[in-house]
Parts: sequence; structure tokens; C-alpha cells
Amino acid sequence: MIKGQFATHAELFDLSGKRALVTGGSRGIGMMIARGLLQAGVRVVISSRNAEACAQAQEQLSEFGDVWAVPADLSRHEECARLAHLVTADSGSLDILVNNAGAMWDEPLATFPDVAWDTVIDLNLKSPFWLVQALLPALRTAGTADDPARIINIGSIAAIHIPQRPNYSYSSSKAALHQLTRVLAKELGPQHITVNAVAPGPFPSTMMAATLDEFGEEIAASAPLRRIGRDDDMAGVAVFLASRAGAYLTGTIVPVDGGIATTA
Ligand SMILES: NC(=O)c1ccc[n+]([C@@H]2O[C@H](COP(=O)([O-])OP(=O)(O)OC[C@H]3O[C@@H](n4cnc5c(N)ncnc54)[C@H](OP(=O)(O)O)[C@@H]3O)[C@@H](O)[C@H]2O)c1
Repeated sequence: MIKGQFATHAELFDLSGKRALVTGGSRGIGMMIARGLLQAGVRVVISSRNAEACAQAQEQLSEFGDVWAVPADLSRHEECARLAHLVTADSGSLDILVNNAGAMWDEPLATFPDVAWDTVIDLNLKSPFWLVQALLPALRTAGTADDPARIINIGSIAAIHIPQRPNYSYSSSKAALHQLTRVLAKELGPQHITVNAVAPGPFPSTMMAATLDEFGEEIAASAPLRRIGRDDDMAGVAVFLASRAGAYLTGTIVPVDGGIATTA
């Protein structure tokens, strides 16, 4: 071991001076990630459709660091391009892209409608792709061989095991996002950009509220770790993947699920 060739503990996880975009950062998992990145020193832009929710989240998160909220409907291609332009207008550089905004649609097979495919695929699959495309120049500018830029896609364990709920387009969109993660990892690695996915298990959020109200205890009991996810579980994995500690991972799908799908 040669001194000077390895980082101190603080350097391994310090993200001071980095810039990140966290989509869907106004609540739930996106807000958990935004908070973790802010605490590690990142300047964070969050985004969601609702302007009032954006402003409130910005106020809440500003306790932890430098945060700016930009309303945008990311299910639309032109809105992804507009957001990408706004985020990079000042520096032309972006270190971390977290593609987190997502939607779910639960409905029995017999009545599952067309709109449930378009709505979910547009936001969960096409939007991360459009954002990567629009932000590539900025990610390339930020990344180096020693410290690559990072793309973190939020997938789901619904794409790893078979979900209990009839959410056909949702689990399919997440399986496709996991595959897109690996495809982009191979192409973008040589350009000094890592691409990984986090596959959350159950975390408290608006999306999961009804399920956790009804089945929360049962779901927690079914997990080998006997609980649902907490804010720090999500903040921690995002900081790890964005930091020097995570610089040599790419094309991975990291389940953060207390063992629910990993031991199924
Ligand atoms: N919670 C879980 O247990 C769980 C498990 C596995 C995976 N996930 C994944 O984690 C991600 C976050 O989910 P969550 O549970 O935190 O859900 P959530 O509480 O419903 O949050 C979703 C976020 O995305 C934003 N959003 C929704 N539609 C949007 C659109 N068209 N354009 C831009 N932003 C939009 C929402 O804000 P607006 O409504 O204001 O737009 C909100 O900020 C999703 O990709 C989800 O699939 C969650």
C-alpha cells in the first residue's frame, strides 16, 4: 500500500463542488436522494411537475445545502430538453444525473388500458433516455478517467421478482430501464461516465402510500431485515454511487430492499 494512492475516509464520500440533477426530487425517494447529496456537498437541482411542490421542497431541502427547484413535465421530450438546457446553462457541466421521477399504474389485466402503457413508459423509460441524450455533453465535460460522471437510474425490485400488484407496464418499464442501464454503461464507460441503477424495495412515498397503509406490516415482516426502507438507506446508496467510493462500478443494478427480492 503506497501512501498518497488512496483516499482518506472523508475523501471517499465527499462530493463538495459537484453538481447534480435529481428528477422527481420534490418528495419520496427523490427527496431522500437529494438530501443525501446535499449533505455530501453537492449543488442539487430538483424537478417535478408541480411548481408549488417544487418551491416547498426547495425550501425544505435548503437546510442541507444549495438547492434549486425547476418545474418540468418530464414525460414530454421537449420538457426534458428544456430542463437539461436550464441545468447546464451556467457551467456546461453536470457531474451526477439521477433519473428518479416515475409513475405506476395498477389495474387488473382484463381492463388494463392503453393509456397505462403510454403514461408509464413515457416517464419511466423514455424520459431517462431523453435526459441522458440531452445532458451527454455536460456529463462528458464533468467526467474524468479517475472521477467519472455518474448516471443513477431508479429502477425497482418489481423488475427483479414478480410483483404482487397488477402493474404490468410499471414492472416492464423498470426491467427495460435496468437493461438500458447496462447498454449505456458499456457505451459511456470509455467516455468517463458510469451508469448504474438502484432497485428500491418498499419505501414510504406517495406512490406507495396506499399499499403500505394496507399491507405495510405484512411487507415488513416478509423482508429478511424485517422493515421497510428508510430515508438514509436511499441517501446512502446514492452518495456511494456518486462518490469516489463508487467510481469503479458501472452497469450494476443495486437492489436496496432488505432482502425481499434478493432472497426470493
Ligand atoms: N417508493 C417505493 O417503494 C419505490 C419502490 C421501487 C421503485 N420506486 C421508484 O422510485 C422513484 C420515485 O418514486 P416514489 O415512490 O418516491 O414516488 P412519488 O412519491 O410518487 O414521487 C414521484 C416523483 O416524481 C415526480 N413526477 C411524477 N410524474 C412526473 C412527470 N411527468 N414529470 C416530472 N416529474 C414527475 C413527482 O412530482 P410531481 O407529481 O409534482 O410531478 C414526484 O416528485 C420512481 O421511479 C419509482 O418507480 C419506488
